[in-house]
Amino acid sequence: MSTPPPAEVPADALAAFEAAKGFMPTHEGLALHTAAAGAAARLPGLPLLEVGTYCGRSTILLAAAAREAGTVAVTVDHHRGSEEQQPGWEYHDTTLVDPEVGLMDTLPAFRRTLHAAGLEDHVVAVVGRSPQVAAVWGKPLALVFIDGGHTDEHAGNDYEGWVPHLAQDGLLVIHDVFADPADGGQAPWRIYRRALDSGAFTEVSVTGSLHVLRRTGAGT
Ligand SMILES: C[S@@+](CC[C@H](N)C(=O)[O-])C[C@H]1O[C@@H](n2cnc3c(N)ncnc32)[C@H](O)[C@@H]1O
Repeated sequence: MSTPPPAEVPADALAAFEAAKGFMPTHEGLALHTAAAGAAARLPGLPLLEVGTYCGRSTILLAAAAREAGTVAVTVDHHRGSEEQQPGWEYHDTTLVDPEVGLMDTLPAFRRTLHAAGLEDHVVAVVGRSPQVAAVWGKPLALVFIDGGHTDEHAGNDYEGWVPHLAQDGLLVIHDVFADPADGGQAPWRIYRRALDSGAFTEVSVTGSLHVLRRTGAGT
């Protein structure tokens, strides 16, 4: 595995990323951007796909890479939050609850974030459940970034729904991959292992919990 040289993030996008609500540390964000820029350059015209928009922190970096390459970043989320973001859980944010509905709604914060970043023209935001969106999706993708629900059910569905759409030479990026259960949940680790064990992927880089794999063969 030879780590690719970092692609430079435009200063406006980096500042917007660092100001945005979200969970991704900067060193992982830079690795995500490098992957996105490389995939978009290598597979011109193919979209970059993210599962798990939340408030748009990581979307900003995909959008910056898409802007640079003349493609688009597609980001999918039902905007009701993952398990660990619900009331009473570790990552709950009371400011993201819709008071009228009484449920999480990260869509308004996402839209404000993307507008402030000046990147709205480079993003297609899909509001929906990942497996349902994947089932109606019909275009090859240059990059699939999985950062949605972190249960085995959700991560497994994301893998099975989106990886078949990843073009040959495209990149599969998985966040929150922890080999040791003491460091975090194991569902992302299991889909990461599944990709490697399939023989269809080769590891490109590891930055913190962000793993980047290249599709070097067919299958899932
Ligand atoms: C960890 S957050 C994403 C963080 C974001 N990528 C960032 O870096 O700021 C996970 C997101 O996945 C969404 N999510 C969870 N399960 C989902 C599903 N089955 N379909 C669509 N979105 C889902 C949640 O609503 C939540 O916003």
